[in-house]
Amino acid sequence: MQNTNPDGTVLVLGATGKTGRRVVRTLRAAGVTVRAASRSGEVRFDWTEPATWDGALAGASAVYLIAPDEGYDAVPRFVDRAVAAGVRRFVALSGRGIEHVGEDFGRGMIAAEEAVRASGAEWAVVRPNNFFQNFDEDLWRQSLRDGRLALPIGDVPEPFIDAGDVAEVAATLLTRPAAEHADGVYEISGARALTFHEAVAVMARAAGREIEFVELTPEEYHAGLLAAGFPEPAAKALGALFTLHRTGRTATPVPGVQDLLGREPSDFAAYAERAAATGAWERDAVRP
Ligand SMILES: NC(=O)c1ccc[n+]([C@@H]2O[C@H](COP(=O)([O-])OP(=O)(O)OC[C@H]3O[C@@H](n4cnc5c(N)ncnc54)[C@H](OP(=O)(O)O)[C@@H]3O)[C@@H](O)[C@H]2O)c1
Repeated sequence: MQNTNPDGTVLVLGATGKTGRRVVRTLRAAGVTVRAASRSGEVRFDWTEPATWDGALAGASAVYLIAPDEGYDAVPRFVDRAVAAGVRRFVALSGRGIEHVGEDFGRGMIAAEEAVRASGAEWAVVRPNNFFQNFDEDLWRQSLRDGRLALPIGDVPEPFIDAGDVAEVAATLLTRPAAEHADGVYEISGARALTFHEAVAVMARAAGREIEFVELTPEEYHAGLLAAGFPEPAAKALGALFTLHRTGRTATPVPGVQDLLGREPSDFAAYAERAAATGAWERDAVRP
């Protein structure tokens, strides 16, 4: 990526997370000045502590915005404050199909979409499918290590996307010259849709061990989440996410990565090989 925005600092929120970390890396590699912010990041930013906002915003011309799942009423207040501080462009991370989900899921993403649209600044909303990295950095990592991923998804495929591609799209949208920028919603996905069953088979092969995919009913899934210690709202939110997936509305690949980056999205099998090589899906050692 080339630095087409040499005169501004980009504030990256969620900078220790799956996409934010990669947005920081991509922008810095292109020579862009970046402020990497989160509660534990280089620059302290906490959605629940507005006193941390101004320091993060000082001198920023663009913001990569990841909204919180809770306390999202802070988002429009933050966006107003950012515009007052001189921010001229927002790129907000949302999710594909967000316009179809019920009220149990994605309120933060919806708040972010609404706030950047109403900001008066330039804006872009990025709506990706599920990330590859959910399997090795997040939600499903431990299940895979345990050898069994169980979800209520059926045979509906998912065009999983690399968080690196999400980050490169976001970095491009954050830095392209105003004359080339168009406000709008950018849907992005991987090139190929896989069922979870197929995705698990690819990861098991890469890891060189047996990992099974088990289909659950939505009720079994909900009960399992509660038994694993998830609070009711989080269990409901995950249930709502899979309800959306089962409709098939987000199952077909879209050409957003190709349109924005001029290349094919990253390949799932290559990702699985890389993640397996880090030991992501090795069985945990049994303690004596
Ligand atoms: N995973 C997927 O497949 C997927 C797909 C589409 C959309 N999305 C959306 O992507 C978003 C998450 O992005 P991500 O996956 O890149 O991040 P992530 O890996 O979930 O990490 C969350 C980031 O937010 C920061 N954070 C958490 N609470 C905070 C607070 N109170 N104040 C300030 N920062 C806080 C965390 O850092 P600290 O702990 O240091 O604060 C971390 O950097 C969500 O809105 C999700 O719905 C995810």
